[in-house]
Amino acid sequence: MLGPISPHRRRQVSEGTIAEGAIGKSVSTNANLPDNLLAMIVIISGTNRPGSNTRKVTATVEAIYKSLDVKTQLLDLAEMPPEIFAPTSYAAKPAAFSRFTDSILAADGLVVVTPEYNGGFPGVLKYFIDMLPFPESLEGRPVCFVGLSAGIWGALRPVEQLQAIFAYRNAHIFPERVFMPGIRGLLDEAGQFTSKEIETRLAKQAEGFVTFVEKLREKKLR
Ligand SMILES: Cc1cc2nc3c(=O)[nH]c(=O)nc-3n(C[C@H](O)[C@H](O)[C@H](O)COP(=O)(O)O)c2cc1C
Repeated sequence: MLGPISPHRRRQVSEGTIAEGAIGKSVSTNANLPDNLLAMIVIISGTNRPGSNTRKVTATVEAIYKSLDVKTQLLDLAEMPPEIFAPTSYAAKPAAFSRFTDSILAADGLVVVTPEYNGGFPGVLKYFIDMLPFPESLEGRPVCFVGLSAGIWGALRPVEQLQAIFAYRNAHIFPERVFMPGIRGLLDEAGQFTSKEIETRLAKQAEGFVTFVEKLREKKLR
């Protein structure tokens, strides 16, 4: 089960004064505050393509969790600092990447929103995963998946590829997934869904995922 990590230790991790992997399987929460004030779902927008539909979908996902009174943080991979792409980042992470790491380590649950690129999930999303501290970033972390594609499969393949990776890393996978085929026809110019159907499915997934996270974390998210 996921355990607390002290604020001091968390700061050390964030500032890079603890080596990667040195915090074992602990997952951070701030021990000085009630759990529900810190409860947080992190939503990952899984591409860095400018103007992406994935980012538009994450805005709706955020709004749905907000309507459930659950705090969220959005991690947009388009905002990853350029320095993280230097080959030296495998050995030493740039300071500007720590906000991504901190959010993942503080997350009670992760919602990964991925598009389909060439029958898979975007390379930048795999690179992001590879840059996270190991093993504590995904170990025992609840996660759920949303996929979107221009084609008819709605990112089934990318989501299943991600499920394999998260399962390998011992994350707790929420089984209810949401797929969006034909994404270009589902969003209007403002990035809003043109019909309620997808939002209804996203809301049902979010309700279920909140319960799933609360059971696994043994705490209330709202
Ligand atoms: C590099 C790239 C590869 C793509 N490959 C596929 C694909 O294999 N299957 C598919 O249905 N759509 C594919 N698409 C279309 C995307 O799924 C669609 O444009 C979606 O909006 C992409 O998400 P994004 O807008 O967040 O980048 C591809 C798009 C890009 C940019």
